[in-house]
Amino acid sequence: MSPFDSAQGRSTRTRQSTSDETTHAHRAIAACRRLATCSDEPGCTTRLFLSNAARAVLDELSEWMTRIGMAVRIDAAGNLRGLYEGTSPGTPRLLIGSHLDTVPHAGAFDGVLGVVLGVTLVEMLGGRRFPFAIEVVGFSEEEGVRFGVPFIGSRALVGTLDAALLARRDAHGSSVADALRGFGLDPSRLTDARVGEALGYLEIHIEQGPVLDKLGIPLGVVNAIVGQTRANVVFIGEAAHAGTTPMHVRRDALAAAAEWIVSIETSARRVDGLVATVGRVEVEPGAGNVVAGRCRLPLDIRHPRDDVRRAAAESARRHAVEIASRRRLTVEWEAVLDQPSVAMDGRFASMLERSVEESGFPIHVMPSGAGHDAMILAARMPAAMLFVRSPGGVSHHPAESVTEADVAAALNAGLRFLDALAASHRRSS
Ligand code: HGY
Ligand code: MN
Ligand code: MN
Repeated sequence: MSPFDSAQGRSTRTRQSTSDETTHAHRAIAACRRLATCSDEPGCTTRLFLSNAARAVLDELSEWMTRIGMAVRIDAAGNLRGLYEGTSPGTPRLLIGSHLDTVPHAGAFDGVLGVVLGVTLVEMLGGRRFPFAIEVVGFSEEEGVRFGVPFIGSRALVGTLDAALLARRDAHGSSVADALRGFGLDPSRLTDARVGEALGYLEIHIEQGPVLDKLGIPLGVVNAIVGQTRANVVFIGEAAHAGTTPMHVRRDALAAAAEWIVSIETSARRVDGLVATVGRVEVEPGAGNVVAGRCRLPLDIRHPRDDVRRAAAESARRHAVEIASRRRLTVEWEAVLDQPSVAMDGRFASMLERSVEESGFPIHVMPSGAGHDAMILAARMPAAMLFVRSPGGVSHHPAESVTEADVAAALNAGLRFLDALAASHRRSS
């Protein structure tokens, strides 16, 4: 069975969550909705890397973590790090977390739910300690919105936040290093963000797709996360007067981009499991009475198989060159990310499956089409993901939601996972 096969639900027992879990689930959802008001834009949820809204979220979560006895710090990459010691100081740690940044006009749960549930699980322990520490991590940047490259926060933990990435500039010309300094952080101290000896990483995240909702199942266990290619493409033609420039002499960058975008969609429809997206168009000079001289587009391509994804990206690049040549334009292609598909840790995933089953919920093992910090942490430690149903499969949208019952189920399974890991750790020590 490939890591990208899905295994149908194996148990039909269902259970009601305890009132304690339901109470904590209610509070967790309320916390996510409150944190969603921390936004760079009024009236919606847009929270970019190291923005003022990001600081407000760090402040609120730090206060909660401190209140329940966690040692809290913000690392040099702006990640929130809350430590709940084990039975003795310095024991290896289990990381639980997700990201705190959002896409523009986001929902209230993508990323932040995983951090809030990490803190909630610690709170639910009521002082109980394990033979390992628990570090709850809120990654400062995962979506890749501000600098066009995702996973900046989690890359700091595994040591791949390199000089090239620190030098990348946002739309205002600020580099990642400038942004860190502007936030009061010191990019020369990024080694302090590195994760030490860790037992592994658990990320609880909304599914962001329709699978669990269609199956009527509250939780999913992720077996693999599909790889992704991200690139920036610029078509360069010549701005001209919309009224006086005959059609046959134009070098219209937006018309070329439009032809390419449709070709991307057509090609992706032909390959099972392939998804390709152009989510933004930046046009210059951008007036209705001017033929576009320059058009910049981000490309996002994903597929469970890396060879299929890379072939699709190369085909998209070749097609851009062909369209540009035929229209007497030039084209620039900037490869931004080639993130291979990542299988989750088999031992952790099995432990998570058993935890879900003992919670009395059906087990569904499935791949993730969305990217997650777990795929970065997996390079250094066992990583596992627990999905929470997305009603209607809605995400990256203000209508994104979760139900109290499903969050309570995730808390129950999460507590059982901690107990199972402790038992396994005691057996192996
Ligand atoms: O783009 C993604 O897959 C995720 O939401 N960062
Ligand atoms: Mn997202
Ligand atoms: Mn996410």
